[in-house]
Amino acid sequence: MIWTNNDGKYQARHDTIITPIKQWLGHVEGEYWTLAGMQVDENGQKNSGSEIEQLLAAGVLTEDQFFGVDYDKDIIEANRKAYPNANWFCGDFFNVLTANADDVSFINFDSMNQPRIALQTAIDLLFCVEEGIVIANMLTKYRNQTLLDVSQIGSVIEQIPSWEVIPPQWQCLPEVYTYHSRRSEMTTVTFTTQSAGTVL
Ligand SMILES: C[S@@+](CC[C@H](N)C(=O)[O-])C[C@H]1O[C@@H](n2cnc3c(N)ncnc32)[C@H](O)[C@@H]1O
Repeated sequence: MIWTNNDGKYQARHDTIITPIKQWLGHVEGEYWTLAGMQVDENGQKNSGSEIEQLLAAGVLTEDQFFGVDYDKDIIEANRKAYPNANWFCGDFFNVLTANADDVSFINFDSMNQPRIALQTAIDLLFCVEEGIVIANMLTKYRNQTLLDVSQIGSVIEQIPSWEVIPPQWQCLPEVYTYHSRRSEMTTVTFTTQSAGTVL
């Protein structure tokens, strides 16, 4: 999917990525990892509505700090052509990150997964970050069907076995962020090592 700066996604990135980075980190110190998706337009050209352009324009990172993973080879090749100084990987996000990450500051687990799966993966990813922010996007409503009432997210997290043993510096923000994308309701859950959050 190709995003424009009029999409709810653009505002969501501002509110869930750029604002927390500026508030808690100032700027990204180490690596920024994301589920890439298409970062260029249909002609392979740079697109101001893309995640990488939005982050570069906000001045929170440089191109070489951007690490994008997608299991779609065509997406990765198109992104690499436009942004050769960023880091692009084809494969499963969790496997690629755990094999290649070195100094992670931010993970955008920008999934369309159902909540339990997205949260399970995000919590497992916390072990890969010493200090920083991890956000998980998940599908909470599709058309008229509610997959999970967002007020229940805290209890889903508490049922995930690895949550019990995550390093103590991690907190989950009690407020979640909800936005609409086409026919879906998406929800973002934020984990941070910064003290600004309240412990779940
Ligand atoms: C929601 S899009 C990413 C959007 C992008 N972060 C942005 O802000 O524009 C999700 C992308 O992740 C890919 N994807 C989903 N699950 C994945 C996984 N486990 N490993 C690798 N790629 C995955 C899909 O192919 C899709 O292109």
